[in-house]
Amino acid sequence: MDQHAIVVGASRGIGGALVRALLDRVEITQVFGASRDPMASPELLAVHRGNPSRFQPVQLDVTDEKSIRRAVEEVRERTDRIHLLLVTAGILHGEGIAPEKRLEAVDPAALQRSFAVNSIGPLLIGKHFWRLLRHHDRAVFGSLSARVRSIGDNRAGGWYGYRASKAAQNMVMKTLSIELGRRAPNLICVSLHPGTVETHLSAPFGQGTPADKRFSPDLAARQLLTVIDRLGPEDSGAFIGWDGQPIPW
Ligand SMILES: NC(=O)c1ccc[n+]([C@@H]2O[C@H](COP(=O)([O-])OP(=O)(O)OC[C@H]3O[C@@H](n4cnc5c(N)ncnc54)[C@H](OP(=O)(O)O)[C@@H]3O)[C@@H](O)[C@H]2O)c1
Repeated sequence: MDQHAIVVGASRGIGGALVRALLDRVEITQVFGASRDPMASPELLAVHRGNPSRFQPVQLDVTDEKSIRRAVEEVRERTDRIHLLLVTAGILHGEGIAPEKRLEAVDPAALQRSFAVNSIGPLLIGKHFWRLLRHHDRAVFGSLSARVRSIGDNRAGGWYGYRASKAAQNMVMKTLSIELGRRAPNLICVSLHPGTVETHLSAPFGQGTPADKRFSPDLAARQLLTVIDRLGPEDSGAFIGWDGQPIPW
């Protein structure tokens, strides 16, 4: 079947690996890879060189609604339907942002940035892309969340901005699943936990996780696509782990 996919947050890490894994699938006609500056990403440049006709880089910042609108128009010039939309854009640390170990480290500007990317970002993507996901075929809108966002499972504390913005992201996806369930009945909306994956995002923190519980981005991408392949309408609104198991809120 002629299928189109877009990964938002494709320049590296899990998003970059998802782009490669999707291009390995014969049923996928076209993959769009979006990030703030896709052609500055060595990973995406290599993908583009290897697949000039099936891979399309798209410039988009999830915190900039105008850029999202522009990206939708760009995608529309090439297709009127998307079968898989994955939001992998997310931040844990960066300029002025670090996971807070204690209350004194809480910084309103860093919190606002975390919420802008991690929670409001997927909502704006849903707001502007959902029409491309409304068609007669099955479609999936997945957003990468994190197990540490669980309120019930929060025993260690700390990481206020990341935990809270990812918890908000889960609420965004659940709420989208209800509204879009009415407006795009073939669309499945899910939050997905990829496991601990060796990427730029996890590099400063992953050492506490045993080596056999840390995945390479390519393995994580394959595992996520296996989970996505098995999703049915009853899964819309769920939070699901890399092993296909539902994760309690
Ligand atoms: N790695 C893990 O162990 C782990 C565990 C649980 C959940 N997750 C989640 O999985 C997702 C992917 O993480 P990762 O480990 O692959 O991280 P990563 O390697 O740091 O990649 C993050 C991606 O997000 C994009 N991005 C950041 N800000 C953006 C913005 N404003 N607009 C558009 N794109 C933006 C980056 O692109 P540019 O900066 O080039 O724009 C990059 O492509 C995140 O949501 C993360 O929270 C990861």
